[in-house]
Amino acid sequence: MSNQNLSGRTAVVTGSTSGIGAATAHALAARGARVVVTGRDATRGADVVAGIESRGGSALFVAGDLAASPVALRELAASWSAALDGRVDILVHNAAVCPAVDTVSLSDADLETTLAVNVRAPQVLTAVLAPAMAANGSGAIVVIGSWMATVGHAFVGFYSATKAAEAQLARSWAAEFGPSGVRVNTVAPGATRTPINEGSDDVITRMTATIPAGRPGRPEEIAEAVAWVVSDDASYLHGALIPLDGGITATR
Ligand SMILES: NC(=O)c1ccc[n+]([C@@H]2O[C@H](COP(=O)([O-])OP(=O)(O)OC[C@H]3O[C@@H](n4cnc5c(N)ncnc54)[C@H](OP(=O)(O)O)[C@@H]3O)[C@@H](O)[C@H]2O)c1
Repeated sequence: MSNQNLSGRTAVVTGSTSGIGAATAHALAARGARVVVTGRDATRGADVVAGIESRGGSALFVAGDLAASPVALRELAASWSAALDGRVDILVHNAAVCPAVDTVSLSDADLETTLAVNVRAPQVLTAVLAPAMAANGSGAIVVIGSWMATVGHAFVGFYSATKAAEAQLARSWAAEFGPSGVRVNTVAPGATRTPINEGSDDVITRMTATIPAGRPGRPEEIAEAVAWVVSDDASYLHGALIPLDGGITATR
């Protein structure tokens, strides 16, 4: 019998002030989880929380910058746990930055921030939060990957490399924490219309016109998959990478 009910569970979705993260926060809350919405933008965060509450869900906003130092990230993780009465059952590493440039044009500042938000933060936050999940004997961690991590593309190469690194971290975490009841998986979206690619509408339309789905993804379509992955329905799913990309990687 299907069981995607998340009542009694707590969740943190990084980068949930926007796009796929906001949709994921909604999807988890709709299934009964109490959700920490987090990001830097308090106004957008409050909007997401209000939207969840207006649908009868439970959420709160905790501001945080994932480009911060490991010490500050550990404090942020502690504040998430405190806001959730000391227990984080579900952690979705969704926040990412994608400087829209080629290899030669990537600035030093963008290089550092991309590495920090996309790789260092998931590493530090998992190191803080996964052991408590393991001690409880249950938990779910999801990395939001990208179709771009598995193909060569003459643009955003450094971003693609960080998404490949995140997916590899997820496989290692599955090996490390899986035996203690913590399931770790990656959901890898294809081109999805969100603020991260605002201004690239034509490119996205062209890129997806000839894929099996024939169109870009919607944030809600990614969020539904994440909600399944963290649910008991996916109890045998460990270390998987699910391409949720309209078929772009399979047919490219
Ligand atoms: N959209 C696509 O086509 C696509 C395709 C494949 C994979 N993905 C992946 O999907 C995930 C979500 O992307 P999206 O398209 O939904 O992007 P988005 O709408 O731009 O959202 C990015 C989120 O990351 C947060 N964030 C960025 N920098 C941060 C920082 N320094 N500290 C804390 N939070 C930070 C932002 O929050 P604040 O602004 O509030 O800080 C925002 O909530 C990413 O992992 C991305 O790689 C997206």
